[in-house]
Parts: sequence; structure tokens; C-alpha cells
Amino acid sequence: MAKPRRRYNRSVSDHPAILVFDSGLGGLTVLREIVKARPDAACAYVADDAFFPYGHHTEDEIIGRVVPLIGELIAQHAPRLVVIACNTASTLVMTHLRASYTVPFVGTVPAIKPACASSKTKRVSVLGTKGTVKREYTQRLIADFGQGCDVSLVGAADLPSLAEAALRGEPVGDDAIAAEIAPCFHDGDMRTDTVVLACTHFPLLLDRLIALAPWPVNWIDPAPAIARRSAELLGPAASATAAPQPTFQFTSGRPALAHDILAPFFGMHVSA
Ligand code: DGL
Repeated sequence: MAKPRRRYNRSVSDHPAILVFDSGLGGLTVLREIVKARPDAACAYVADDAFFPYGHHTEDEIIGRVVPLIGELIAQHAPRLVVIACNTASTLVMTHLRASYTVPFVGTVPAIKPACASSKTKRVSVLGTKGTVKREYTQRLIADFGQGCDVSLVGAADLPSLAEAALRGEPVGDDAIAAEIAPCFHDGDMRTDTVVLACTHFPLLLDRLIALAPWPVNWIDPAPAIARRSAELLGPAASATAAPQPTFQFTSGRPALAHDILAPFFGMHVSA
């Protein structure tokens, strides 16, 4: 007999609760856009840092970890909407999540369609974790939306950890970043002109990616589109009063984020 889907109470406050989830700090690049798009929402950010980086885990390990964990987080936060701000997880677990829980979900998947639509040279690279670029889901996006482009899949094993280190203010050498992005750049008659940031950690390094690229390209960050979709699913804002500040939770139990890490994302008024 089919298992009944679990139901949870939705929050009824004027400030709709949104749960934003990632393996680590990359989802802050999505949270930043959601906060801009829906200043009335009460956002809870959860990082599964005890299991970071997801890119180093097998598909079964990620499904077995994320699906029950999201159930616990839904029970804890009673969100109106859950945003999975992680490509490595979203390219695997969205069907499982939607089959298990009734709350609406927004996933983050490689922005292959807009990238291929806007590429002039028809040479596009998808820069993600090793897991994301291997996924059948990603292959299907290319087959469905590649629009005749030559699409290269580039799995960057260390870039999420480098991005977290840089965010914490630790020194991260140019060489290490340049080596991770080098396979994105194909020269010749038709040069790569578009790179999809298919991991939410990578926009954390955007200034350095731009500086280290061998030639200028269009870097595609899906975060604004995810925020727009989230706002649409929430419906019109019910309150003009400011929402409470986002909260931050880490599965490792580590203490809150330092103010100087959060300030560049959310201004000087957000405390951890
Ligand atoms: N931020 C995650 C993503 O978008 C991945 C980082 C990790 O490997 O945990 O894919």
C-alpha cells in the first residue's frame, strides 16, 4: 500500500516562513536574492555542514541524508516554502521531496536554458560539483535546452571548499581557483562565451572568477530567477512591516556566523 504523504501545518504569520537549505554557505547567494525579492518573508537558513561537501558523496548517500533531514526541518520551522539552494542536491532529490512532503519546493538546477539561449558563440560551459555534472538530470537539461550549443561539463572538486575558505577570510591562492576554472575555457574558432555557475558556492567567488578568467565571459547565476520563482509561489505580500532577520542553523552544531561574513550579503544590520 502506498505510504500516506506527511502533512505539516503552514505558518499563518504575516511574515511567510521560507526555509533555505544548502550543504554549506553557498546558499547565502540565493538567500540574499530571496531577502531582496521578499523583504516580508521570515527566512531560516540551514546549512548541512556536518555532511559538506555534498559533491564528494554518492547519489544514494545524498538522497538518504537530505530527504529525512528536510522532513525534520519542515517539522521544526513549519515553512510555507522550502528552497533547496544546492545544485548537487536538487538535481537528485526534488522528486523524492515532493513525493514525501506537501509543502511547495523550489530547487536550484544548472541554468542551461538561459545560458544556451544567450550564447553568441554557441560554446557554453557548466561549472558545477563533480556530482552535478555527472547527473542524468543535467544531461537531460542539455538534451532538452542545449539549442545546438556545444556544452562542456566541468566538475570542480575543490571550488566549494575554496569559496567557503575565502568567505571566512582565509587566504586562497589565485592558482588554486584558476586551475579549477581552466577547463571551462575553450579557444579556437568559437570561444566559450558563457559559463553557468552550477553550484551556489561559486557566486561567492565571482569577483575572482572574473579577474582570473583568460577572457571575459557571461557568468550565469540562477539566484535572481530562484528568488522570483519563490516570490511567485508565496503570492502577494501580506505585510508591509519588515520581517524578522534571517536565522542561521548548522547541522554540525557550530556557532552562528560572524557578522563580518554576513554583512556583505545583507548589509550592516543583520546579526548572526
Ligand atoms: N552549494 C552546493 C551546490 O550548489 C554544493 C557544494 C557541495 O559540494 O556541498 O551544488
